[in-house]
Amino acid sequence: MCGIIGYVGKMDAVAIILEGLKKLEYRGYDSAGLAVYNNGIQVVKQEGRLDALQARIDASPLTANMGIGHTRWATHGEPSDVNSHPHMGSQNKIAIVHNGIIENYKQLKEYLEQKGIVFASQTDSEVIAQLAEYYYEGDILDAVIHVVGRLEGSFALGIMCADNPDMFIAVKKDNPLIVGVSDHGQFIASDVPAVLKHTSNVYYLNDREIAVLRADEVEFLNFDKEPLAKTVETVTWSLDSAEKGGYPHFMLKEIMEQPKILKDTINTIISSGDNQEIIDGIDINKYNKIVMTACGSAYNAGVVAKYVFEQLCRVPVEVDLASEFRYKDAIIDEKTLVIIISQSGETADTIAAMREAKAKGAVTLAVVNVVGSTIAKEADYCLFTAAGPEIAVATTKAFSAQLVILYVLAVRFAAGYGKLSPTQEAGFLSEIAQLPEKVTEILEQLDGIQKYASTCVGYKSIFFIGRNIDYAIALEGSLKLKEISYIHSEAYAGGELKHGTISLIEDNTLVVAIANCERLFSKLMSNVEQVISRGAKVLLVSNHPDALPDEVTSCITLPLSGDLFSPSLSVIALQLFSYYVAANKGLDIDKPRNLAKSVTVE
Ligand code: F6R
Repeated sequence: MCGIIGYVGKMDAVAIILEGLKKLEYRGYDSAGLAVYNNGIQVVKQEGRLDALQARIDASPLTANMGIGHTRWATHGEPSDVNSHPHMGSQNKIAIVHNGIIENYKQLKEYLEQKGIVFASQTDSEVIAQLAEYYYEGDILDAVIHVVGRLEGSFALGIMCADNPDMFIAVKKDNPLIVGVSDHGQFIASDVPAVLKHTSNVYYLNDREIAVLRADEVEFLNFDKEPLAKTVETVTWSLDSAEKGGYPHFMLKEIMEQPKILKDTINTIISSGDNQEIIDGIDINKYNKIVMTACGSAYNAGVVAKYVFEQLCRVPVEVDLASEFRYKDAIIDEKTLVIIISQSGETADTIAAMREAKAKGAVTLAVVNVVGSTIAKEADYCLFTAAGPEIAVATTKAFSAQLVILYVLAVRFAAGYGKLSPTQEAGFLSEIAQLPEKVTEILEQLDGIQKYASTCVGYKSIFFIGRNIDYAIALEGSLKLKEISYIHSEAYAGGELKHGTISLIEDNTLVVAIANCERLFSKLMSNVEQVISRGAKVLLVSNHPDALPDEVTSCITLPLSGDLFSPSLSVIALQLFSYYVAANKGLDIDKPRNLAKSVTVE
């Protein structure tokens, strides 16, 4: 939700900022802009994608060794040139880029307007630049400390002052920010991929920390201006993992990476990896209830996991949307294990849900992809998915990695509860270890899925149905399709159709039926017959293709697997299907309209 970058050093700051913004564009793409120091602060900003900003800079090139940049996901004020960042105070002395929301901006704006300050934009962020200029008395650091003391809300900031041609300031509260250090200069960024080309050495800023960056040093301070000693960390993500590698979209690249990602993730949790040690340290018998909370696809991973946990552990499991959980006064206590699922580790609702769970005394276990993220730092236990950087806004590989971590957790906890014998436990773990190979088999069907998807672009609505755990993964199939193809879609438990939604089925509605649960196959086939008799076309995604009703002619055949882990296979077919429907519509798959990868606002 907005990406920020900054650089000071020996190299061309304009090129570095534009390159970094390209890597951050997944966080927001309503407008982009930069401010650099060149005989004072020069600002160029532009509504629209980064290409539009690049074109303006190509037409009037700029040179500089220091600057800050921003890519915007609009919250306050429509996408427009004037609402784009960087924002400057009216005296053109201080420029800022901001990711987050200033909750008390109206009061601050009124206060400054009474002092005669005229605002240029409708944003909440401009108040930061105006306030900084208002407090500035020759020391930018003092002004920044004064400003952050008055701000309510969340902010990751880059701040430049026209009187300081060789340094800029970064601040973090409730929004992610890293500091990268290299031999040619220092960086700030919302996310690691933006600096990977230049360095793997980063500091993760904590809340209420300030960094003062100069070409050859970074100083860290708290909001009381006291120096902080921080440790530099080495990122293991490779530069290749943040590049498209010849694929037309990151999403397709990330789908195709899944066999390796699953193998790497499974290795961290089954064969003596870091995650395994963490699980070994959890005494599951302390907990009589498990709650999972997350947003979007991560929530869907929780819904799948609920079936697996309940089946294997025989303890009650609740799954809640984090945005609901945080306000529902959940019935949890120290005997509840709350599992927090998040790719980014920065989703505002999920962070709030985690904090609420901790405040009520529950123990939190996070499943997170981004090392150094807020959830990773604050949860009592954290298991990392080895998905590498996920750039496409619609998640694929991180979702799959979450699933395998949750499966292994369910198996290990079931053994801990005494519900599985060592032989049964080993059997399930070996089934999980076979998933990467089976995923490869599905990816080999890419041509057939692409061909079928090309016939589906005209549908106005596509329904997904399944029963039991197949229903859980239908939720993810439906979300994937709608977010990237803009085709209306709903997921329904097969047995629920007749209670309302079947009235929407008419000639040429497409229904994607997911059918892997052996004991419910015939039940789902009855639902399939019901929709066919109302004119629907059906695509079956199943490992039981031999038992197809005659009327179903389209099928994606999955490798055989037990019911419990079959969602990891169904989802690959559903991801490819959605991807190719959207690709055939010529849409901007990696950056669907109105969405952003990391939702750091409520
Ligand atoms: C959908 C998608 C989103 C995220 C959700 C949570 O493809 O990516 O629904 O799953 O915004 O994000 P994280 O996992 O970062 O907390």
